[in-house]
Amino acid sequence: MPVIAIVGAQWGDEGKGKVVDQLAEGAQMVVRFSGGDNAGHTVVNPLGEFKLHLVPSGIFSSRVTCIIGNGVVINPARLIEEVDQLNQSGIDTSRLVISSRAHLVMPYHILLDRLEEESRAGKALGTTMRGIGPAFTDKVARLGIRAGDLLDKKDLLERLNSVMEYKNNLLTKVYGVSPLSLDEIYQQYCQYGERLAPHIKETTALIQAALARGELILLEGAQGALLDPDFGTYPYTTSSSPLSGGGCLGSGISPTSIDRVLGVYKAYCTRVGGGPMPTELEDEVGNAIRERAHEYGTTTGRPRRCGWFDAVAARFSSQINGLTGAAITRLDVLDILPQLKICVAYKLNGKSIDYFPASVTDLEGCQPIYEELDGWQADTTNIREFDRLPTEAKKYINRLEELIDCPANIVCVGPAREQTIIKTPIF
Ligand code: IMP
Repeated sequence: MPVIAIVGAQWGDEGKGKVVDQLAEGAQMVVRFSGGDNAGHTVVNPLGEFKLHLVPSGIFSSRVTCIIGNGVVINPARLIEEVDQLNQSGIDTSRLVISSRAHLVMPYHILLDRLEEESRAGKALGTTMRGIGPAFTDKVARLGIRAGDLLDKKDLLERLNSVMEYKNNLLTKVYGVSPLSLDEIYQQYCQYGERLAPHIKETTALIQAALARGELILLEGAQGALLDPDFGTYPYTTSSSPLSGGGCLGSGISPTSIDRVLGVYKAYCTRVGGGPMPTELEDEVGNAIRERAHEYGTTTGRPRRCGWFDAVAARFSSQINGLTGAAITRLDVLDILPQLKICVAYKLNGKSIDYFPASVTDLEGCQPIYEELDGWQADTTNIREFDRLPTEAKKYINRLEELIDCPANIVCVGPAREQTIIKTPIF
């Protein structure tokens, strides 16, 4: 019953899509468990280059059942668009299953995401504006509409009617904007329901059956540990848990069924949106990384903030995820740099600390304490064995392993499937 959870171990965009796509070759099921279409998972494989937001990255392997788990919030319009694009590229999406328990992103969520961000003025969170926060808010407030609700038009109308009365009051009386039309949204969501109905199922039974058959199941996370609402840089976080624990809640797989937790780290750090990032480089090195790695958001196109590897944050992430291994991606981006830095501690109020502070005010005040390593200044993109990497590159990876306290199973030296080094097997 092997289950591997694949989770983002920094601030998202670590390259989970590539890792899942590759591991899915040997899997029978991939379950996406959190977030929504705020995520952007890039996959480059022999079938082409794809940017997935909701569809699990296992969709390219013909034997894999791909489940959008109960922990994901789904914008049906975006999902249909994504499925159509995949079909146009010849990808079969008949194995896509949507949990009937997954909540839907509604037009008022997207509108409220923008209005809430505008009302935060200088303290905006820098959300992806996909309605994710408001959709998860409604889930907890018990005002959500779930995928399963699309299957019964009468119930949908009843539910939508009461929710929208409340939402329109909020829109008109608090934000002073025009109300949304119940009829338009209802008609639109009925159409989405007709289109998605063949995919909407009670997925727990499917997952339990796969577990019982001893199949390899991948849990695909979205975003990263440092955006977790509890352990991330709150309030500059997302709204669902990207942690391995979130994998249990977002799929219905119990903690005792997870065999391996693979944390995906970039060989450096990036962050998109607001909030502290102690190792951010607002200089030519940061710019060089951004341009070389094309560090622009897959979902929003925003330039990503780039910086040195933050091992304090990375170790914290390893601990709260219970990582059994790491995938270090984009090592090749560092090929050009003569010198590299790793943040091994922070200086806060004149004292050295080695933990990731809970308060963003403290984190904003943290100065990184760096360890310097020589760069390798050689092309690694064609290397497929760890021992063939330049000595300095091996030292860099070995040092990261020590600092995050888990072995690197995988090292990536480019976006394509084959640009991968297996350093130590996952099992
Ligand atoms: P939201 O998830 O759209 O509410 O955005 C909250 C924060 O999470 C913002 O800083 C976003 O930039 C960040 N975020 C959300 N999804 C991703 C992602 O997939 N990659 C990186 N950052 C993300």
